[in-house]
Amino acid sequence: MTNPADTFYVTTPIYYVNDRPHVGHCYTTVLADVLARFMRMTGRDTFFLTGTDEHAEKVVESAEQNNVTPLEWADRNADEFQRAFAALACTNDDFIRTTQDRHTSRVIAYIEKLQSTGDIYLGDYEGWYDPSQEEYLTENVAREAGYKSPVTGRDLVKRSEKNYFFKLSAYADRLRAHIDANPDFIRPDARRNEVLGRLDSGLQDVPVSRAVREGDTGWGILMPGDDSHRVYVWIDALCNYLSTVDTPDRKVYWPAQVHMIAKDILWFHAVIWPAMLMALGEDLPGCVYAHSFFIREGRKMSKSLGNFLDLPTIEAYCAEPGSREGVQSFGTDAFRWYLVTQGPLDATDADFSYAKFVEVYNADLANGIGNASSRVNNMIEKYFDGACPEPGEQTEVAKGDKGYDLSKVAPNYTRIAQTHMSETRLAAAATAAREIVKRVDGYINETKPFTLAKQEGRMGEVGTILYECAEALRIAAVLLSPFMPGKMGDLLATMSQPRPSANGSFDTPFDELTAWGGLKPGTKIVKGDGLFPRADGKLPEPAPA
Ligand code: MSP
Repeated sequence: MTNPADTFYVTTPIYYVNDRPHVGHCYTTVLADVLARFMRMTGRDTFFLTGTDEHAEKVVESAEQNNVTPLEWADRNADEFQRAFAALACTNDDFIRTTQDRHTSRVIAYIEKLQSTGDIYLGDYEGWYDPSQEEYLTENVAREAGYKSPVTGRDLVKRSEKNYFFKLSAYADRLRAHIDANPDFIRPDARRNEVLGRLDSGLQDVPVSRAVREGDTGWGILMPGDDSHRVYVWIDALCNYLSTVDTPDRKVYWPAQVHMIAKDILWFHAVIWPAMLMALGEDLPGCVYAHSFFIREGRKMSKSLGNFLDLPTIEAYCAEPGSREGVQSFGTDAFRWYLVTQGPLDATDADFSYAKFVEVYNADLANGIGNASSRVNNMIEKYFDGACPEPGEQTEVAKGDKGYDLSKVAPNYTRIAQTHMSETRLAAAATAAREIVKRVDGYINETKPFTLAKQEGRMGEVGTILYECAEALRIAAVLLSPFMPGKMGDLLATMSQPRPSANGSFDTPFDELTAWGGLKPGTKIVKGDGLFPRADGKLPEPAPA
């Protein structure tokens, strides 16, 4: 069964519960949220999934160190992830935890099926194991990394054991054919090339279980039909994307359109998971999108540096501006804006820097959309008593060739933004919507309605200009609402327009919503509070109270 064009399923990785949420996890989840909100706004029946990956051995260790059971530890951190995503206004339709029965029972069913087809079999394994990442590395990768973990730098260990294997090697040709035939299956291109390069050196079968050892704590799913093995945590985790929607009412969402991940977990998503799906007879996801990493103030975020941008700091950024005396804050929408427009969507890492945050906030939001909207609304209040004026004949400036015919600019950039979104270019879509705002500013500067208003007999022109500006800003606010649902809702409300619903949808069909002329003359328009007060970069970076 293929996914009908009107459904849209987007996922994030499910995050390890032995760590706490930080800006990296938030980045991926906010990207998925913006996509989900945009798709809902355009009328797609959307399902957005995130969650937590709980069966790692590290969870048992962390729980022991903290004198709680593994499940208590998992509960605690799963709550933290949920708190983080709620703080960032994420609209996930479900939150899957791999310790839930609805997941584990299906994992068992998938594995039984793969055992019955011979895709999973019992064999012997000896190889280089990275205990810090709980994964085996191929001889090549281990050698290149100097027999240290490429991620943590800790020593690899040689492990030998009886194991269940997945017959990955049997799917090499089909997988390559699929990647060749579907250029968008792995994105961006650098990541696709990376996978193709690794496929050239051939595929070996991969272990999918770990032996139950002395002192086993009962953590993890037992291998069906063999209590001496547990399902390897990665195999368990990957199944979440399918298990969560593998119900009669949700199966319409499969296959996912986009698995949003970062480059660290590309191989699992672009090779092992698709091969498992082939073996299960399921359709493959449309796109595995692997972005790069956020670093912080020019340095990699790591445990040893202790420089993760953590949840308390994120919450301090997300507090409404001015809510704490003498402390800088920006609000949730501004934080989302920075992540999505400045984040590492492509093949290069991106810096989360406070100075850059202030600069982007002031340029794009305070002096950008915030200023444009207060200028236009103020003039409508001042010259037209807060009633949206009636547009008359277009001005000469609009008719000219400088690109200020807003009735063309807004629909044009709406289409551009929509195309970018359908191709997962979120920052480009944001830029397209911002372009409408820039044209509004340029148009005001060219036509100077505030000067015309002082001249005899020119109020008709002033009304036309302000109508065009307000209407363009309304459309820009709609397009920007998936990025900044709160503030763009506030902006729409100043023009007596409906806000997006809690999950980002509007009652009006998208084409109608963004059609030029939606704003009716006579509609009440108010100044509203400043949407984005200017930030003072001299104040210290937001920090927890
Ligand atoms: N549990 C596995 C994923 C299983 S999915 C079936 C896992 N979890 S994780 O907690 O380590 O999350 C990794 C993901 O978090 C990355 O792929 C990325 O989405 C996000 N990020 C973690 N650090 C990041 C940055 N520094 N920058 C951007 N995103 C990062 O791997």
